[in-house]
Amino acid sequence: MSTGLKAPQATAAGAPAPSSVGGADDAAVFEPKIVAFLCNWCAYAGADKAGAAQVPFPPNVREIRVMCSGRVDPQFVLSAFEQGADGVLILGCHPGDCHYKEQNYRAIQRFRIVLALLEQFGIPAERCRFDYVSAAEGERFAKLITETTAAIRALGPLRAPAQ
Ligand code: FES
Repeated sequence: MSTGLKAPQATAAGAPAPSSVGGADDAAVFEPKIVAFLCNWCAYAGADKAGAAQVPFPPNVREIRVMCSGRVDPQFVLSAFEQGADGVLILGCHPGDCHYKEQNYRAIQRFRIVLALLEQFGIPAERCRFDYVSAAEGERFAKLITETTAAIRALGPLRAPAQ
């Protein structure tokens, strides 16, 4: 599988490669880009509910609607990081509520593969999160977006800014 991502290279001084730079010093000015894959039936509706109720949450998330969390191929996550995301969020229906029966359980299994792939590319697991939001949980959606944005902001940018 070709992702276009490159495994991190050690520098001559043994410092981490640019793909893993970032940290507390960057946090003050850094606004992370987060890609969120939202299940159409639950998480996307939860996002809609948060918007309709005007529940505040950070504007750092680019939402991608998928029909089910089980539709999120690991390649989608790698592509998001390759194209500049600092973090990725996958939100599906709660266990037992998936409209396609057990597909969100499969999504959880696939998420473990995603984390293993990310490790191979030197991307910390903390940059990718899987969670649940129902159509009625606008507040929960806003909370997850707020938490994830804060966590990724604290990690700093995935890549060094262009000089
Ligand atoms: Fe929502 Fe499957 S339909 S996770």
